[in-house]
Parts: sequence; C-alpha cells; structure tokens
Amino acid sequence: MNTKTSSRQALATAAAVLLALSGPAALAAPPPLAATPPMGWNSWNHFADKIDDATVRAQADAMVASGLRDAGYRYINIDDTWEGERDAAGVIHANAKFPDMKALADYVHAKGLKLGIYSSPGPKTCAGYAGSLGHEVQDAQTYAGWGIDYLKYDLCSLGDRMRTAGGLDKAHEMELAAYETMQAALKATGRPIVYSLCQYGVASVWRWGASVGGNAWRTTGDITDKYARMMQIGLGQAGLSKYAAPGHWNDPDMLEVGNGGMNGAEYRTHMSLWAILAAPLLAGNDLTKMSPDTLAILTNREVIAIDQDPLGRQGDRVTAEGPLEVWAKPLKGGARAVGLFNTADFPNYVEIDYPRLGQKGPARTRDIWAAKDLGKLTRYRVLVPGHGVVLLRVG
Ligand code: GLA
Repeated sequence: MNTKTSSRQALATAAAVLLALSGPAALAAPPPLAATPPMGWNSWNHFADKIDDATVRAQADAMVASGLRDAGYRYINIDDTWEGERDAAGVIHANAKFPDMKALADYVHAKGLKLGIYSSPGPKTCAGYAGSLGHEVQDAQTYAGWGIDYLKYDLCSLGDRMRTAGGLDKAHEMELAAYETMQAALKATGRPIVYSLCQYGVASVWRWGASVGGNAWRTTGDITDKYARMMQIGLGQAGLSKYAAPGHWNDPDMLEVGNGGMNGAEYRTHMSLWAILAAPLLAGNDLTKMSPDTLAILTNREVIAIDQDPLGRQGDRVTAEGPLEVWAKPLKGGARAVGLFNTADFPNYVEIDYPRLGQKGPARTRDIWAAKDLGKLTRYRVLVPGHGVVLLRVG
C-alpha cells in the first residue's frame, strides 16, 4: 500500500468515526446565521425610493471594485419601494424598477455577495407599498425562489392596527404573532435568510427579539446624516449589551458614513461607536462615489475586527463625565476595544484608568485610527477633537 492510499484510508476512517459520533445531520448542519453582526449595504439612507435594478447592480459592482467585499461586506439589501402588485393567486411581483428579481439575485451572487429585501408585517410598508399581511408564507416562498438571503421586516402599518388592538398587551401579542408568523414562513423555505426586525425598539424588543427568530432588531427610530442624531442613537444603546450574542444583535440602524452630513472626525466616531456596539455594519452611502476618506473609514480592518470579534460581545458605557464618554467592548483573548468620545464641539482631554476597564496591571495599548502602538500603559489621557474619538485596543 503506498502512502497516498494509506492517508486516503485514514481520512475515510476519520470521516466514518465523525459520522458515527455526530450523525449525518450534524455533518450537514449549515453555519449559524449572523454569527457575527451582518455586514453589507442598504439602499435606503442614500437612495430612498430612487432605487432600481441598475443602481443595485452598480452598488454590487462597486462593493467588489472598492475592496468593501474583501473587507467583509456581503449583503446588498434592497429597502422599501421595490414592491409591485399581487397577482390573482396573491403572489407578489416586483414593480417596473426591478424587472427580474431572480436575475438580479443571480448577478449579485455571482460576485460572491448576497441579496436582501424588505417587507412589512402590516398591509402596507412605510412608503405605502404592499406589505406581507396575510401573505407571509407566499412571500417567504417567493423570496426564497428569487434567491434572497436577508429580510428586513418593518412594522409600519401593523403599528396602526396595534393601536386599535385594545390595550398594550393585546398590541404586543399582535406584534409577537406577526414576527413569529414570518419567522415560521422563512424557516419553512429551508433557505438561510437573515431575519432583521425593524420596529424602532418599542416594547423593549431586545428582550424578545431573539425569541421570534430575529438575527438583529432595530433598537431605535431612524438615523439621519447628522452628528447629533447619530450620537443620540449610539450613546442611547447604553445598557443593552447583555442582549446581544452571536446570531442575535442589537441594531442601532444603518451607517451614514460618506453621505456628506458629517465631517471625517464625526464619521470616524460613528464607525467606532457602531463597532464597539457590535452593530450590523450596513453602509448607507453611494458606493460608486466614495472619497478616499470614506473608503478608509468603511474598510479599516482593525475597526471592522472589533465589530466582528468572534467573542460576540457588545460593548457598553464605562464612564460619562459631561460631554466625555468612555465605552469598552470585550474581545476574544482578553483584550478590549476602548472608545474615548468627546461630544463637545471643541477639543477636550479624555482619560481612562485601566482598572476601570477591569484591566489589572499594564496593558499593551494601540491607537487604532492612528495605527500607532503606544506601549504598555496603566492609564491613558489624550486630547480628543470636538465630536471626535480616539479608539484604542487595550490588552
Ligand atoms: C422605516 C425604516 C427605514 C426605512 C423606511 C422605508 O422608516 O425605519 O429604515 O426602511 O421605513 O420606508
């Protein structure tokens, strides 16, 4: 027997042992969905209703050409306004802006990317298009048939029905049932589809989002491309870290980086805070027209690694002194990502004593945006520009 044959035999034996130990189902188990926060792009923040097939294809092309795909971005998500009419059998069709959704999915998949779509558990979406109420099973089947990989399910007009449901408890029951119905419908398709709940954080969704199958749930109303609103949302996540885990993430809404309403320091603050929050990183800008600064912010490997850290822990607030805040996120292997935020419009010193982080003794410290190792420290004090951040890796 030559070495090739014997090593082949050894492999076959190992496979047989594995099969006997775990059974064929375990061997075939798909990787868990959203084991780290989903990364990709969504059409709403930049394009709103001006989204169509050609634009989505151009964004997919740009995600590859710009290097975003190689930095970890995968999902190309079509938000509201793609929906057309239902036919006599109740099957939903895309409107004229999307002549062939299956062909679009094939195009996106051929680039190593995934395609996402949007609907509502109510009769209408937020922009007034057809929602999925009463057609959940059909719609999930349609999405799976097209090759959809991600569904954002936006409460909207179901909220109107909930208001007349006869009290808060009844309204909440209605909401839970609606999200469970779509969870079951998605599951029945057999296709792995990331399930993203969007109901703006009402009824403390972080407490029950995972129980209705949510891979992510919006914790707030809509973001805008303004520093004040972005920070109101970001810092408003304090206390929610314990509800995030692999497969189930708090979602403080999509990124505005590159949309023009904030300066570079403010967008670095946005990206740093979202990474510390282990938030889904869904770029919301036009990927075909990115400045070098926008590209550098969205693709900084060390910042992305904080967001995507395999430990899967969300960061939280450590200290707040007036306009100065320190937030930290535990990382695999014992290090921490630490954000020193200055929310004033003028520069301020921000400091952190490492014992406040739970760090005993000196710890290796790196300034991530400056890409600079600072040595072993027990505390750090640094001048942070107005609306800016210094993002550290400590330990
Ligand atoms: C809501 C959502 C937004 C977007 C719009 C689309 O406002 O929160 O993210 O999906 O609906 O109509």
